Amino acid sequence: MNTFQYRRGELCCEQVPVQQLAEKFGTPLYVYSRNHIVGQFTALDQALQSVEHTVCYAVKANSNLAILSALAKAGAGFDIVSAGELYRVIHAGGDPTKCVFSGVGKTREEIEYALKLGIYIFNVESEAELRQLSAVGQRLRRRAPIALRVNPHVDPDTHHHIATGKKESKFGISIERALAVYQEASRLPGIEIRGVQMHIGSQITRVTPFVQATRKLLKLMAQVRALAPATLQSFDIGGGLGICYKDQTPPTAQQFAAKVLPLVKNTGLRLLIEPGRFIVGNGGSLITRVVYIKKTPVKTFVITDAAMNDLIRPVLYDSYHEILPVRQSRSRKRKVDVVGPVCESGDFFAKDRPLPEVNAGDLLSVMSAGAYGMGMASNYNSRPRPAEVLVNGRRATCVRRRETLADLVRGEDRG
Ligand code: LLP
Repeated sequence: MNTFQYRRGELCCEQVPVQQLAEKFGTPLYVYSRNHIVGQFTALDQALQSVEHTVCYAVKANSNLAILSALAKAGAGFDIVSAGELYRVIHAGGDPTKCVFSGVGKTREEIEYALKLGIYIFNVESEAELRQLSAVGQRLRRRAPIALRVNPHVDPDTHHHIATGKKESKFGISIERALAVYQEASRLPGIEIRGVQMHIGSQITRVTPFVQATRKLLKLMAQVRALAPATLQSFDIGGGLGICYKDQTPPTAQQFAAKVLPLVKNTGLRLLIEPGRFIVGNGGSLITRVVYIKKTPVKTFVITDAAMNDLIRPVLYDSYHEILPVRQSRSRKRKVDVVGPVCESGDFFAKDRPLPEVNAGDLLSVMSAGAYGMGMASNYNSRPRPAEVLVNGRRATCVRRRETLADLVRGEDRG
């Protein structure tokens, strides 16, 4: 996590002191490091270089146009889950022919939009969706390129809200049924079989579940190839590569590649991978100013100007985010709760967290907030969403302005 570092006692993002950013752009503020984000992409891209591959960044992790544009320039493809995400990718200069479309509920309109733009593949999650794809394909006089998202029933050993490869999950087509569905696909007039896909969960900190799941799919890949000899092109291993929030030791890109590539090489297929968090997670933090300190007989609350509407991960996933004072402090640490102003007990960033002395007006940095931070932000409590800043070396660019009060009522009518 050396993208954010203290220099002479000041927390910096790359070469820029975070305090300067807070003063210029206000708080709460999302700050991202361009070099971290592109660096993570490049590390993975290079680790996979011995096979044909495309790294398709999962847009949902952070869909800011500047981040999409930086990744598009670096050569990334994209994993999208809605027409909105595809629109963003195109707007950012991304290549639709490197896009994979995931999700259990793609509507007919979304399918049409993506098919017309010529995306690489639809990852199909049900037979109903497959038939819909074929119908749209026929109507547009083309074949919809597909992979089935196969559920290999592997436990990714992660938080239950983000585990997707188990039997009871709503995602994918069970591995036992997959061949039959591929057989149906091969008979549908509006379908072209291109790949096999899986995605077993998120924040996975070991390679083993990926290896186990891939092994389980190898036989299926051979069977599908026999069905659709001319067209099977790719195996998509999904996203889910974990990062370090506190004390996790996830595999590096190299370690991941060392275990997974030997399996993939034997198939001769192009490898697709859909990382989100791995690319942006540690490349962003949420900067917030302390509004008040409130002491009760049992607790000290540090009340910040950021809230659960800006970063919902702690209450939703029990997630840990390191919290650093923007000005380094050597004072003795005391346990505090860091909370926001929203009217819910779930509005917290940390509970019983040892922090050095903090006063009203101080700036704090909530770390590892680059993934699923701003993307999941809302206007709950009628709070305008934060601005976002992208740092590149010594330069900082506001890549999304702070919402205004007028933005809050845009599109509404007094009736
Ligand atoms: N591909 C598919 C089909 C997905 O559903 C996801 C994430 C990804 C790729 C990217 O996964 P990643 O590499 O980022 O782990 N909001 C939660 C995470 C939800 C993940 C949903 N799917 C969080 O904040 O932890």
